[in-house]
Amino acid sequence: MTDDEGRSTMGEPHERRPEDPEDPTELVAELRQELEDTNRGLIALHTELEAAQRAAARLAAIVTSSDDAILSVDPAPAHRVQTWNPGAVRLFGHEEPEIVGKPVDTLLSDAALDAFRAALAEIRAHGHAEPHQTRWRRVDGSVVDVAVTVSAMRDADGTLIGFSTVARDITQQLAAQAELAAARTEREVQGDRDRIARDMHDLVIQRLFAGALTLQSTLGRVGDRPRVAERVQRVVDDLDDTIRVIRSTIYALREPRQDERGGGGLRSRLVVATDRAAEILSFTPALRMTGLLDTEVPAAHAEHLLAVLGEALSNAAKHAGATAVDVSVEVTTTVSANGSDKVLRLRVSDNGRGIDPAVTRRSGLANLRSRAEELGGTFVLTSNHPAGAVLDWSIPLPREGG
Ligand SMILES: Nc1ncnc2c1ncn2[C@@H]1O[C@H](COP(=O)(O)OP(=O)(O)OP(=O)(O)O)[C@@H](O)[C@H]1O
Ligand SMILES: [Mg+2]
Repeated sequence: MTDDEGRSTMGEPHERRPEDPEDPTELVAELRQELEDTNRGLIALHTELEAAQRAAARLAAIVTSSDDAILSVDPAPAHRVQTWNPGAVRLFGHEEPEIVGKPVDTLLSDAALDAFRAALAEIRAHGHAEPHQTRWRRVDGSVVDVAVTVSAMRDADGTLIGFSTVARDITQQLAAQAELAAARTEREVQGDRDRIARDMHDLVIQRLFAGALTLQSTLGRVGDRPRVAERVQRVVDDLDDTIRVIRSTIYALREPRQDERGGGGLRSRLVVATDRAAEILSFTPALRMTGLLDTEVPAAHAEHLLAVLGEALSNAAKHAGATAVDVSVEVTTTVSANGSDKVLRLRVSDNGRGIDPAVTRRSGLANLRSRAEELGGTFVLTSNHPAGAVLDWSIPLPREGG
C-alpha cells in the first residue's frame, strides 16, 4: 500500500491511533474507504436503475404494441383516464389527448359501468377481481364486446394510485361461438331427421306393407263376394299409396335443407363432405375448422372450396393408399394500415405413397389450379413428412363492401 505521495505505508514505525482525528494517514485511509464504499453503492444503484429502466422500457413496449386496449384510471370516484395505449385508440377510436382526464364512464354503458364498479369493489375488498365480459362504447357511439380485466396499481408504499384495465375485443370469439352453437344445433336437427326417416322406413313402412300383403292374401277367400273383394282391393291400393307418400317424405327428410345448399352452413357442409369421404377411403378424415367460415366465406367461394375438397379427397382415395387424411379449413384475418385482409385456406394432407415425380397433372389437379388462379389465389401439391402428399389451396376473400 502507498500513501498519497507514493511512499510505502507498510511497516512504518509510527504508532497507529485510529481514534486520533489528527492523524493524516488514518484520515486518508478512512476517506479512501468511504470513497470506495460510496463508489460501490453508486455502481449498485446505477445497475439497479438500469435494470428498472430496462424493465420499464419493456413494459412500455408491451403496452404500446399490444392489440388489447390498455388504460389506467385514477382511484378517485370519477375514475379519470390517466393513460391510453395505441390498442385503445384502435379499439375505441378516441385519440389519447382527447380521452386522458375524462371520466371512464365516457366509455361505458350503464351495464358496463356497474360491472366496472363491481370489479373495483371486489379489488378493494379482496385485492383481486375476475375478468368480466361486457360492452364498451366507441367514440362513434357503436358498442363493442370486450373481456375486461382490472387490477390495482400501488406505489412502493402500497398506496393505491389507480387501476390498470385491459379490454380485449371478443367480437370474433363470440361470433365463432355462435357459429359453433348453430352448427351443433344443425347437426342435432339433421340427426333427428335421419332418425325419424329411419324409423318411418324400418317400422311404419314395413308394417303397412305387411298389412297390405295379409289383406291381399284374403282376397282369394272372398272371390265369391265381389263387393267385399272390391272393397278389400281398394284398401290395399290405399295402403300402397300411403307407402309411396311416406317414401317421398323420407326422401325429403334426408335431403339437405335449402339453406344448407345455399351460402350459409359451410361448417356443416364440410362435416358432411368429410363424413361422406369415409365411403371411398374406408375411414373418416380428420377435420379441423378455424375462423368464421359460415359468415365470412361468400357462397361462390364456398362452392369452389367444397369442389376442391371433393377432388382432394377423391385423389387421396384413388392414388394415395393412405391410412390417414387430415383436412384443415381456416379463415385468417390480417389487419394492416389499409384495412383487414381475409384468406380462406384448405390443406389436405395424407400419409400415403406420395406424388410420383414422373406423373403429370390430369384434369383434377388442373381444375384446382385454375379455380385458385381465377380467384387470385394459389395452389400447390407437395410432399408430406415423413410420407404422403399435402395439398395447399388458398384464396383471398373479398373485402366487406368491395
Ligand atoms: N394424394 C395423392 N397421393 C399420391 N398421388 C397423387 C395424389 N393426388 C394426385 N396424385 C397423382 O397426381 C396425378 C394427377 O392427379 P389428377 O387429380 O390431376 O388426375 P387423376 O385423379 O388421375 O384424374 P382425374 O382427372 O379424374 O382427377 C394422379 O394421377 C396421381 O398419380
Ligand atoms: Mg383426380
